Amino acid sequence: MNIATSAGVVIWLTGMSGAGKSTVARALVSRLQAFALRATMLDGDVLRTGLNSDLGFSAAERTENLRRVAHVAALFCNEGFVAVTATISPEPEHRENARRIVGESAFVEVFVDTPLEVCEKRDPKGLYQRARRGEIAQFTGIASPYHPPVHPDLTLHTQDNTVEHCVDHVVDYLVRNRRFAIGHVGERSLKMANLRAVVSGK
Ligand code: ADX
Repeated sequence: MNIATSAGVVIWLTGMSGAGKSTVARALVSRLQAFALRATMLDGDVLRTGLNSDLGFSAAERTENLRRVAHVAALFCNEGFVAVTATISPEPEHRENARRIVGESAFVEVFVDTPLEVCEKRDPKGLYQRARRGEIAQFTGIASPYHPPVHPDLTLHTQDNTVEHCVDHVVDYLVRNRRFAIGHVGERSLKMANLRAVVSGK
């Protein structure tokens, strides 16, 4: 049986629209679930269709949006889940506030460091094009600032790494910082040993 242990953790991905946050978050949750960990993804875009559907993108509304996301993440964390959030969270105060809500010891700030030119080229939802045409107010990176973390716990470069490599990087960080331990029992021990070799890069 695959086993891994972790106390609750919040992995807070921050970066611009199109940076790859949701893609990394989805793959990371799958990887953690493969270790039989309870893991869930909290996606800004998805939460904005329900819980946060009353909020737009003004400074005050983003603050409220992210306050709610942090509280939901904290609830999961307190139940022992690894909660992976994917929100732009453009201001240092947003991330600091989330860290305070979740608690320092359970919070991992991950900067998905994809340059604006790359995000804009990817433009998976066509939003940058629309923002350039002036059709979307306060669009992050165009008409509203993104202030990158100065000392994130971890930085991912999606433009020159595969998604799986980025996931390896996060899992390796969790193992190295003893937030996450991997063990193996029974017939799948070899498979787990291989997995461990992959995630720890050894
Ligand atoms: S945050 O700034 O409050 O953290 P959040 O991550 O929830 O933002 O939502 C960002 C997503 O909303 C983007 O990926 C994009 O799909 C969509 N979006 C719509 N309008 C905007 C805007 N003005 N600025 C940024 N993202 C926007």
